[in-house]
Amino acid sequence: MKAALCTHYGPPEELELRDLPSPKPGKGQVVVSVKACGVNFPDVLLIQDKYQFRPPLPFAPGGEVAGIVKETGEEVTSVRPGDRVAVSIGSGGFAEEIVADARRCLMVPENVPLDVASSFIVTYGTSWHALTDRANLKPGENLVVLGAAGGVGLSAVEIGKALGARVIAGASSQEKVDLAKSRGAEDGFVYPKTPLSRDQQKALSEEIKRLTGGQGADVLYDPVGDDYAEPALRAMNWNGRYLVIGFAAGNIPKVPLNLTLLKGSQIVGVFWGASTVRDPRHAQESLQKLMGMIADGKLKPHVSAHIPLARAGEAIRLLMDRKAQGKVVVTME
Ligand SMILES: NC(=O)c1ccc[n+]([C@@H]2O[C@H](COP(=O)([O-])OP(=O)(O)OC[C@H]3O[C@@H](n4cnc5c(N)ncnc54)[C@H](OP(=O)(O)O)[C@@H]3O)[C@@H](O)[C@H]2O)c1
Repeated sequence: MKAALCTHYGPPEELELRDLPSPKPGKGQVVVSVKACGVNFPDVLLIQDKYQFRPPLPFAPGGEVAGIVKETGEEVTSVRPGDRVAVSIGSGGFAEEIVADARRCLMVPENVPLDVASSFIVTYGTSWHALTDRANLKPGENLVVLGAAGGVGLSAVEIGKALGARVIAGASSQEKVDLAKSRGAEDGFVYPKTPLSRDQQKALSEEIKRLTGGQGADVLYDPVGDDYAEPALRAMNWNGRYLVIGFAAGNIPKVPLNLTLLKGSQIVGVFWGASTVRDPRHAQESLQKLMGMIADGKLKPHVSAHIPLARAGEAIRLLMDRKAQGKVVVTME
């Protein structure tokens, strides 16, 4: 079987397509014939040795896949060969076959395409955890999403809308804002690319306040960080919850804490991956609920690009260059 491997840290163009022996399932494991693998920002960081965990070299990037169960190991009763499944695996997904823990496999209903199934676990799992478990988002509240056309951003727009919030989308181009509007955002704004001048930061705060009727954001979803964070924190409503999702724009921001005091607001950390380890049953229930919402057409994950395994580096490059919209998937056929 073929895999696109990171053999040394560097740019995505240096991934190497290699033939490897087919994996065998251990106790409680399954081998999945991968059909598609969703690409996430951690893949950008992993191949450059900039992420918080480090698979030993060589490794295949790709943290979530969907495909057909090929073989099951001892004591596996929940899935059978031939089942359509989706599973999050951390890394290894840029490959024709992977081994996964059977308990983490989600059954994929017939009406959900495997490319869609391969691309929702990390993003929708993160946004569901962020907006429900962490922010306790309520119907009628304002939800402001930055990076709103990216992977996690667009999922936050859709989930926020499904939970009854009034969603306002921020992104770096009108095309991206329009995509977020087509997925449920009521309003939106275009922000400049980093670095932002003091005046641009002030204008960003004012725009968020204006679009929230002068109130400020009840919940702010921030996967970008850097120069966007402080102006966004300045635009919180009383009792607002500012969700720290990630730092796709590069720098980890440092913010003056008096801003939280003045607004009675909270800065809330979100780490979906760690939450699934601490409470796997809750995480699995949340993912099953999300899969059901996708099958019912209440959520529609947007796959904007399909890249074949032999050119997998191009998929990561799209995210690095800020060109991805919704999700990019690597396909095996
Ligand atoms: N906390 C968690 O549990 C968790 C889980 C999953 C992901 N994350 C984090 O969430 C962030 C987004 O991940 P993702 O998979 O959604 O990535 P993505 O699809 O590439 O989206 C990232 C968005 O960030 C914005 N951005 C701003 N500056 C950028 C830059 N210099 N380069 C690239 N993008 C930039 C882009 O939107 P604009 O161009 O519109 O600004 C882009 O759409 C990452 O930091 C990731 O590590 C966190």
